Amino acid sequence: MLKRWVMGKYNSLYIKIFLSFLATCVLFFIGLFVFWNYYFTDLFYKDKIELLEKRNTEIARLLNSVQDGTISIRELKYTVRILARSINGQVWLVDEKGNISNGSSDSEGRAIPKQMDTLFIDGLHGRTGHSMISLETPEGKRNLFAFYAPYQLNDQPMVIILHFPAGDVREVISAVRLNILLPLLFSLIAVGFILFIVSRKLAGPLQQMNRAALELAHGDFKTRVPVNSQDEVGQLAKSFNFMVEKLEEWEETRQEFLANVSHELRSPLTTLRGFIIAMNDHIIPQEKYPHYLTICEQEVQRLQRLVADLLDLAQIQNGVDVFRLRPVDMIELLEDSMELLKPAMKEKHISLHLILPETHVEGCYILLDPDRFAQIIHNLIYNSFKFTPEGGTVTLALEENEKEVHLYIRDTGAGMTASELSRIWDRFYKADEARTSKADGISGTGLGLTIVKHLVTGMNGTINARSRVGEGTEFHIVFARKS
Ligand SMILES: Nc1ncnc2c1ncn2[C@@H]1O[C@H](COP(=O)(O)OP(=O)(O)O)[C@@H](O)[C@H]1O
Ligand SMILES: [Mg+2]
Repeated sequence: MLKRWVMGKYNSLYIKIFLSFLATCVLFFIGLFVFWNYYFTDLFYKDKIELLEKRNTEIARLLNSVQDGTISIRELKYTVRILARSINGQVWLVDEKGNISNGSSDSEGRAIPKQMDTLFIDGLHGRTGHSMISLETPEGKRNLFAFYAPYQLNDQPMVIILHFPAGDVREVISAVRLNILLPLLFSLIAVGFILFIVSRKLAGPLQQMNRAALELAHGDFKTRVPVNSQDEVGQLAKSFNFMVEKLEEWEETRQEFLANVSHELRSPLTTLRGFIIAMNDHIIPQEKYPHYLTICEQEVQRLQRLVADLLDLAQIQNGVDVFRLRPVDMIELLEDSMELLKPAMKEKHISLHLILPETHVEGCYILLDPDRFAQIIHNLIYNSFKFTPEGGTVTLALEENEKEVHLYIRDTGAGMTASELSRIWDRFYKADEARTSKADGISGTGLGLTIVKHLVTGMNGTINARSRVGEGTEFHIVFARKS
């Protein structure tokens, strides 16, 4: 349980950011401290060592004088004492057995403290150096800073040791250390605090988004995350909200679409069922069967059309392998479509015209899917045919320039009001249910123009409509020329 909590906490982004930044800062501060400590200590000791070295040279010069008899041992002793006082410590001249043969204090004749053995031996080996030594005395611990150097007196090896109490040095250094350490510690605490807040601020919106995403997954489309900044996290929050809005819209269209589909399916099914029951119960007399069966057939056809259109629309919207584009002659395609539609037009006494540009020697080649293009023309002309009374005209006009091909489909039919016109591309929209007489057997699905719009834009074209009630309607399609 505790482990899971710790793991959970540790997995949190803000803890990760916080800890890694903090670790960086701690490492940096440690580095800084070590460097400063070394630098100041070195600076401090350098002075002392220089002083001791100088005194050591003086003593060596004295010893030289003793050797050649210029000064007496007494004089040596006297000078050594003065020198010792000048360094606030002691000067010992130690013979090869480790006894102090000559010194600045009453320690003369005694052996050196055993803590100095290592540096003494080092000195006997002819080396110069310095080190910190702690002595156990009856009064307690005493620290000494000692300098040593070898000397050869009358062919006897000896070691010069200069030392002074290191207490004050240590104190100064630890004061310096404290002065470095304290500000560093305080800044570390401040940095830690700032980091804590910053990482919380960074990770907070992400946690909110995560929560919102889960709510979204459970179907709550009202959820939004606050946008508190303009940085990447803020951008993400914005995009997230935008995505939720889109999803909400899609969900609404989906619901509406389902409602529409079931409504469209229900009415023909209800009619069919009603007639079948009536015939079964002999409510409808047998001689009227042909009439009702014709109606039933029309309803079944309507259902078939609806299902076909729905499948078609779904396929076009999925956009997988819908168009097989190739350069085709648009004029040829238009002439073919006209040929197919002519008989129906004649029957309703509607005249059909095709107006082509005057010079089209080379044909009018456009990158199209010929079957899908025929579907567009068919849908549009069929609409015109449906909404144009007997004796009207339907005109197909083609205009071209260097860049584009414009196709107009005009009729002298019922026309539409502006508000009807604005909705004709919607799924299942039928401008005036009453105007579409069911008796014709051509009651539409309201999907035709939706499909047309998808097909035109799918083949990189544009389509617009203009209409006036009572005067007629014009659809205008533009395709870019194949370059
Ligand atoms: N040429 C036209 N003249 C008048 N109204 C039209 C014309 N074309 C389409 N409309 C209107 O737009 C609506 C939608 O057309 P469409 O999507 O083809 O559906 P449907 O043909 O199944 O009714 C039609 O119901 C009709 O009211
Ligand atoms: Mg139609």
